[in-house]
Amino acid sequence: MQNPKNILISGASSGIGRELAITYSAPDVNLFLCGRNLEKLEQTKILCEQLKANVLLAKIDVCDDKSVREWVDKIEENYPIDLVIANAGISAGTAGGPESFAQVKQIFATNLDGVLNLVYPVLDKMKSRKKGQIALVSSLAGFRGLPSSPAYSASKSAVRVFGEALRGNLAPLGIEVNMICPGYIKTPMTDVNDFPMPFLMSVSKCAAIIKNGLAKNKSRIAFPFPLYFVVWLSTLLSPKITDPIFAKLPGKKSL
Ligand SMILES: NC(=O)c1ccc[n+]([C@@H]2O[C@H](COP(=O)([O-])OP(=O)(O)OC[C@H]3O[C@@H](n4cnc5c(N)ncnc54)[C@H](OP(=O)(O)O)[C@@H]3O)[C@@H](O)[C@H]2O)c1
Repeated sequence: MQNPKNILISGASSGIGRELAITYSAPDVNLFLCGRNLEKLEQTKILCEQLKANVLLAKIDVCDDKSVREWVDKIEENYPIDLVIANAGISAGTAGGPESFAQVKQIFATNLDGVLNLVYPVLDKMKSRKKGQIALVSSLAGFRGLPSSPAYSASKSAVRVFGEALRGNLAPLGIEVNMICPGYIKTPMTDVNDFPMPFLMSVSKCAAIIKNGLAKNKSRIAFPFPLYFVVWLSTLLSPKITDPIFAKLPGKKSL
């Protein structure tokens, strides 16, 4: 969608979500931003207001479906949402061993249920006006199960595949659905990594690529290209070849 005016972004207190809020900031834009850390959200608000955007914050956990729906309903009373970016997400430290069961549940609750909790209340409204754009933040880590982050890569894979299906399903209703699949982006999520991150990209470049891709209604906004190509290629090769390579990937440190 070109020039969305009413934009909702989850996980805007930090990293990619914050930078997207800044990137979309303009005098005639209304931004609805959520996260759990209000202090950090306030910092995002200041940066967006400097660019003359109108900003409304909500301290909301995307895992709480009731609160998310109430928030969306309240926004929609005055502002029909043009674009929703389901960005909030977490990863877990796996350097000391695989994700624990508690971590696995939290990752799926945030990265998958949290996306659905946000998308469905907005979708109900968009369907009635036959207009809108839904952007889902997946990851290049969602193209193949990674031994270094099983639940994370599975949650991101589910989001992408769900979105791809939804895109075809909703196109006749005039609703756009886009899958955002970044590689390594420099944010607090990756700042804890003490291993080399190939093609690590700045968060400002990442946000610009996403905004450009969404304006063109690209189905899959996957970047940086060299890493996307390697990941895509790995899905074509036999696990006999790729398993030993992926098994060597380092785990993340805990946040
Ligand atoms: N950085 C990368 O290399 C990379 C690559 C591919 C995909 N991604 C994806 O991009 C998205 C943003 O990640 P990032 O790198 O910007 O990480 P980040 O700096 O850690 O930001 C994550 C954001 O999600 C919010 N969040 C987490 N759990 C939440 C919850 N339960 N309810 C509401 N908000 C919640 C956080 O806000 P609060 O703490 O205030 O709740 C924060 O604003 C994630 O979905 C991530 O998986 C990142």
